[in-house]
Amino acid sequence: MTFNIMHTDEDPLSPEFEARRAEARKRLDSLDPAINAPVDLTPDPLRRAWFEAVYATAAGDPAQVPWANLSPHPLTQNWVNGQLRGMEGLRTLDVGCGLGDNAECFAAAGAKVTAFDLVPEAIAWAKRRFPDSTVDYQTGNLFELPDVWHQAFDLIHECYTLQALDVSMVPKALAQLASLLAPGGKLFIIARARAEDEVISGPPWPLPPSFLEVARQAGLVPLMVEDIIATSNVARRHWRALLARA
Ligand SMILES: C[S@@+](CC[C@H](N)C(=O)[O-])C[C@H]1O[C@@H](n2cnc3c(N)ncnc32)[C@H](O)[C@@H]1O
Repeated sequence: MTFNIMHTDEDPLSPEFEARRAEARKRLDSLDPAINAPVDLTPDPLRRAWFEAVYATAAGDPAQVPWANLSPHPLTQNWVNGQLRGMEGLRTLDVGCGLGDNAECFAAAGAKVTAFDLVPEAIAWAKRRFPDSTVDYQTGNLFELPDVWHQAFDLIHECYTLQALDVSMVPKALAQLASLLAPGGKLFIIARARAEDEVISGPPWPLPPSFLEVARQAGLVPLMVEDIIATSNVARRHWRALLARA
């Protein structure tokens, strides 16, 4: 692939960036099988083709990757900053890492980070952005991960990947994540939140409060759950939760 546009130090809050993002959203929504009737995810339940198209058609422009803000999620960064006991050497996994900003935030705090994404181009792009990174970036599917990752992590961070899955897949995804945690390991979740009875038309599919019960069935016990209302730097209601392997 050739990259004809270089957007290296651009401010994601600039009007130019926002305009390109708005255009890209329209274009990407028109391609998304979960949005366009008739909705049928049977041929591609993970929407892999759509995720691949996001990164390929962006052609190096992060404004065209709807979730890429070129910095760690503020709720993640703020949590990492508050870890007074430090994260040195913590075996950490970032799920659906996209362009790598969250993975880098954990690495900067001293964690030993592995980060994976379904889309090879996302991984290649993250590596291009962070050529000197200590993060081990890998292509991988949450539902088909290497056996050596079983119980291999002290901390798993997932930001916006559960909500990108069709709701029917969330229980299996949580069970997968639980199986990757070492005894005493913790799963840290950042996701958009909704009321249990709120009608949604994803993607994304914000998580209802009952996701905690689903997590419990997967062997994950809540240590901290924050229901965060929209603020100036987090535009919509969110969950920030820390769950431990029972
Ligand atoms: C909404 S984006 C969030 C990206 C990143 N976590 C962030 O916060 O910027 C979801 C990411 O998960 C990846 N993804 C989707 N399904 C996946 C799966 N089954 N396994 C691994 N990654 C997946 C997508 O390619 C995409 O990069």
